[in-house]
Amino acid sequence: MSDIKIKMNNISKVFETDELETHALQNINITIKAGDYVSISGPSGCGKSTLLSILGLLDMPSGGEYEIEGVNVTDLSLDQAAEIRNSKIGFIFQSFNLIDELSVFDNVALPLRYKAKVPSDKEIATRVAECLELVGMSHRSSHKPNQLSGGQQQRIAIARALVAKPAILLVDEPTGNLDSKSGDQVMDVLEKLNDNGTTICMVTHDPRYADMAKTQLRLLDGAILTTPRLATA
Ligand SMILES: Nc1ncnc2c1ncn2[C@@H]1O[C@H](COP(=O)(O)OP(=O)(O)OP(=O)(O)O)[C@@H](O)[C@H]1O
Ligand SMILES: [Mg+2]
Repeated sequence: MSDIKIKMNNISKVFETDELETHALQNINITIKAGDYVSISGPSGCGKSTLLSILGLLDMPSGGEYEIEGVNVTDLSLDQAAEIRNSKIGFIFQSFNLIDELSVFDNVALPLRYKAKVPSDKEIATRVAECLELVGMSHRSSHKPNQLSGGQQQRIAIARALVAKPAILLVDEPTGNLDSKSGDQVMDVLEKLNDNGTTICMVTHDPRYADMAKTQLRLLDGAILTTPRLATA
C-alpha cells in the first residue's frame, strides 16, 4: 500500500443560506503521509473545524477531490461515509465524549464491537489492554469515566480512538478542557504515539502544541497560509 494516508486536491466548502454564501474553505491541497504529525491552526472562523469535519467524513466538500489510503471518498452516500469513517478514522474531541455508564474497558472496546466483523472477547481484551497500556491507563480499566481526572479521561478517549487501528487520528483541540499539566501529559501521549508510527492531524489554538507537530499548517480565511514542510502537495 502507498504510504499516503490523506490526499486533498483543491478542496472547497461553501455554506449557503437564503441570503448568504460563506466560502469556508478554498483551494485546499494537503497530503498526509504515514507517520506524519500535522497541526492545523489559525484564527477563529478560518475554517479549522470545517476542514476537520471534511477530513473525518462528517461533512462533504463543495468541490475538489479527497482520497483516504488511495480510495476516492469525495462523493459517498451517508452509509458509505459512515462505514469508511468507522474503519479508517479515529476521532479525539475537546470534550472526551466518553459514555459515563460504561467502564473504561467497555468505552475503549466500543469501536471494536461496532465493526462489521466483531472480534472474539479474547481478541477484544488483548487489544483494549494494549491501547490502555499505550496511554498509561492500564490500572484504571474497571473505573467509570467520572471517577477519573480530565487528563485521564482524554487518555481513555485516545485509547478508544486507536483501538480499531485507524489510518489516521483526527484530533480537535485535545487540551481545550484541561489544565496545562494534564494538557501537557495528553500531548506527550500523542507525541509518543506518533513516534511509534501513528499518523495524526490535530487542530489547536495553542502555538506551543502546534509547534510539536512535524508539519504545521496555518489557515487564514479558508486558505492554507504557510506550508513549511512536507504536508502540502
Ligand atoms: N453550518 C454552517 N453554515 C454556515 N456557515 C458556517 C457553518 N459552519 C461554519 N460556517 C462558517 O464557515 C467559516 C469557518 O468556520 P469554522 O467553524 O470552520 O471555523 P474555525 O476555524 O473552526 O473557528 P473556531 O476557532 O472559532 O472554532 C466561518 O465563517 C463560519 O461562520
Ligand atoms: Mg472550530
